[in-house]
Amino acid sequence: MALEGKRVLLVIGGGIAAYKSLELIRRLKERGVLVRVIMTRAAQEFITPLSVGAIVGERAFTDLFDPASEFDIGHIRLAREPDFIVVAPATADLIAKMAGGHADDLASTVLLATDKRVLIAPAMNPVMWEHPATRRNFAQVLADGILVIGPNQGEMAERGEAGPGRMAEPDEIIAAIEASLSALPDKNALSGKRVLVTSGPTHEPIDPVRFLTNRSSGRQGHAVARAAARAGAEVVLVSGPVELPDPTGVKTVHVETAAEMLAAAEAALPVDAAICAAAVADWRSSETSPQKLKKENGKAVTLSLVENPDVLATLARHKRRPRLVVGFAAETEKILDHARAKLKAKGCDWILANDVSPASGVLGGPSNTIHLVTAEGVESWPTQSKQSIADGLVSRIAAALNAAGARK
Ligand SMILES: Cc1cc2nc3c(=O)[nH]c(=O)nc-3n(C[C@H](O)[C@H](O)[C@H](O)COP(=O)(O)O)c2cc1C
Repeated sequence: MALEGKRVLLVIGGGIAAYKSLELIRRLKERGVLVRVIMTRAAQEFITPLSVGAIVGERAFTDLFDPASEFDIGHIRLAREPDFIVVAPATADLIAKMAGGHADDLASTVLLATDKRVLIAPAMNPVMWEHPATRRNFAQVLADGILVIGPNQGEMAERGEAGPGRMAEPDEIIAAIEASLSALPDKNALSGKRVLVTSGPTHEPIDPVRFLTNRSSGRQGHAVARAAARAGAEVVLVSGPVELPDPTGVKTVHVETAAEMLAAAEAALPVDAAICAAAVADWRSSETSPQKLKKENGKAVTLSLVENPDVLATLARHKRRPRLVVGFAAETEKILDHARAKLKAKGCDWILANDVSPASGVLGGPSNTIHLVTAEGVESWPTQSKQSIADGLVSRIAAALNAAGARK
């Protein structure tokens, strides 16, 4: 996608990596991007508004209570005019402010007042990055639909320190902007459409305190529900047990088991499209003990497992079949072979196959690498944040539904 003519607002936070933002501005300008910059007070300790302004070609915005800029451009225009907002470097402090909804300076106020997609490029010392407070804040901004690039592993500015925390390189940030902008659905692409999304794992009880489950976090499914709602669809999200807030603008139905998930999904019909992103447990215990099972002097316990109902296949063969049925295939090997086989076996229209082997970091992580498998072939998407993948999927769904609608 050409970035030429796109309006990008860059928020520069107060980190060592702020110097890389000068290079980022230069490269964006080379691509014909209309760049506007906000600098936090701390950012101005690292690079000056003068050098930023000279590269941008207009002054950098620094102050919330600046009468000159408030009457001229103003924080609301700064928040609404761009096509895309990038925070680079995103400091631990800025991520905390975004997670908490703070608005006590120009950068945080604009980030709270915007309805545009926001991409953050975190940069900080690895101990700050791995601190439980940053983990909580980062999880919250991901749940709010913020896009993320990096941080990368490597040497820190502090001598002898290394680990995750280096800001992504300018070219990587530009590639992420390009991928996100090209994935973005039109504002009302799904208006008037009903969409069902399943998300998260299921819990299959063994006794009142134990259950069988898997490592799905629900992030990809929740991101799809959020993206569909933002594109104007009426969305029902059937979610297994996850540690994520319900997405805004979405009707969320909470379930525990595969049987409950299927019942809730069928109750949501008719829908135009169903996206089955949940990692439904394939099996459940054939018996559920009403009381907690007890150890018996080292005696082995055998669990007998029976197959669960198949939510995706049931929807794909339903008498009220959605016009478009999309499944996810989480695989640890032979990803495309298994995905093609799943497409046939389940009778769905598309499969989004992803590698969930432990080395991929996909389960529970912010990014994903997807192969879209359809009857026509395979399309491999670049690795990107789960929200960006959700946007791309929603754009495709809108195109397919609108084309199908036009044929009628
Ligand atoms: C030399 C120096 C380097 C710093 N580098 C970082 C950094 O890379 N990442 C970060 O999150 N904070 C860093 N900090 C701390 C932030 O500057 C500080 O938290 C500041 O309040 C952030 O403000 P802002 O989020 O409004 O930009 C650094 C501080 C100093 C003194």
